[in-house]
Amino acid sequence: MVVPRYVASVDPREAPAHEVDAVVIGAGIAGLYAALKLAAWGKVAVLYKGAPEDSNTFAAQGGIAAAVGVDDSPDLHAQDTLAAGAGLNEPEAVRTLVEEAPSVIRDLIEQGASFDRSDGEYALTREAAHSRRRILHSGGDATGKGIASALLRQVGRHPNITLWEQTMVVDLLTVGGRCVGAVAVQEDGRETVWHVFVGAATILATGGAGQLFARTTNPAGATGDGIALAYRAGAEVRDLEFVQFHPTAYAGEGAPAFLLSEALRGEGAVLRNRDGHRFLENHPQRELAPRDVVARAIAKELNQGEESRVYLDMTHRPAEWLRDRFPNIYDFLLGQGVDMARDWIPVAPAAHYMMGGVVTDLDGRTTIPGLFAVGETASTGVQGANRLASNSLIEGAVFARRAAERARQEGFRRRRSLSLNGPEVADEGYPSSIRSLPDPRVPGAIESFRRELQRLMMKEVGVFRSGDSIARALSGLGRWLPSLVYPVRNRAEAEWVNLLTTAFLVVEAAQLRKESRGAHYRHDFPETNDTEWRAHLVFSRDRGAYIREVDR
Ligand code: SIN
Repeated sequence: MVVPRYVASVDPREAPAHEVDAVVIGAGIAGLYAALKLAAWGKVAVLYKGAPEDSNTFAAQGGIAAAVGVDDSPDLHAQDTLAAGAGLNEPEAVRTLVEEAPSVIRDLIEQGASFDRSDGEYALTREAAHSRRRILHSGGDATGKGIASALLRQVGRHPNITLWEQTMVVDLLTVGGRCVGAVAVQEDGRETVWHVFVGAATILATGGAGQLFARTTNPAGATGDGIALAYRAGAEVRDLEFVQFHPTAYAGEGAPAFLLSEALRGEGAVLRNRDGHRFLENHPQRELAPRDVVARAIAKELNQGEESRVYLDMTHRPAEWLRDRFPNIYDFLLGQGVDMARDWIPVAPAAHYMMGGVVTDLDGRTTIPGLFAVGETASTGVQGANRLASNSLIEGAVFARRAAERARQEGFRRRRSLSLNGPEVADEGYPSSIRSLPDPRVPGAIESFRRELQRLMMKEVGVFRSGDSIARALSGLGRWLPSLVYPVRNRAEAEWVNLLTTAFLVVEAAQLRKESRGAHYRHDFPETNDTEWRAHLVFSRDRGAYIREVDR
């Protein structure tokens, strides 16, 4: 898909610039934690599209993984992460994660986060494909909210940090190949104001792309912004065919795909089909098999026919225990008329997490100098082809801390004399040079295109894929290309560009990878092919698609 380098309807040389030391884009765990670390050294602007409660972090239930138990070790945590990742993890990234995770947990506690305890010890739970109880949780099933609230308190009172709510980054700014900040649009329901943020370090922490799919556990803002922004700016992105479907999102008629944490299965919940048959009974790990395996098993059951249903059965636990351990889930289900102490809960898979993203090294550096990526939007190599449960919050925090430290070492405060008006800037392709075509945009059309795109992606490149379904997806996406008109005027239009860009990358990657591995399952290539495909599929704007071996 051809998309201009810049799409914002403002020339950054003419807009007033806010000059800071670091521009952080996103306010989930990775963005907030990076901002706090950076603020120890310089001025930081944190830009985010909605309110802080709109992040995926805030919605995270189950927990955050770290080898802190007496019977656990970073080695065991690494083994489980690698086994789930199906041969595509970068071993050095995994090692970094598991070794630094316990100290990041201690640091989060120092920042005010607290984790549930029992008898004076961390109340560790187990989730799928973990060989030990190693998941810390907070408020029972409100772990992300607990951590994000603590970080927000710190960030909110830090004199070096300015928070920019309702502010969406539309373009990353580069000068001579170096990222120098971002162009953003701020909408408060009445006014649309364009801003330019100039900083020596820019940290992308925009989260995932669950909004590509009709059923998702992600918030409305998860539109693949980081991937699309970085791709347009020329960075490498990779592993985008690996979209994790959480096996158990609520599937009540007309209800949202509310996450039903894997911790439920960790505490003994079983999966049953309509006849009560426990269809994962014969898998060696039963309901605690890796997420991709469980999601496919459920999807297969649901594909048996119109009447097929899958249920999570947690009725072996009394109501009092359930209310205490899973207060949010319990309340949500009661609101839906489901008493989880007595009723089976209808479930179906929903898009949950992107394993791939913007390529980074172990310090969050992307292939564009000055641009870092952390959290779900990054591809550090930790997650492989299938993320181990509860490894996302911890990955976001570990690599945010490293990225902030690296930005400091690179001397980000010394690079403040950035100018958007030097002679080298003339060829950057800023929006003023984009020819504005007659504008065919119909008000409201984008909302309906977005829903159609989500249905198409869910149907053709969801849990199961095939050459034919991928071809249908590509031709469907192509129909929307004429709807892209530049420059974009607001958040909705910018999100639509990002969704369509990311959708093309996901589908093209799914087409090229002719095997099944982790979360990418093709009916026409059902086997894993290590000889040809134990490798990342990388895309960049300049080079197209190419293959890069996994480090061994
Ligand atoms: C869950 O609680 O099941 C979600 C945790 C995760 O995605 O790692």
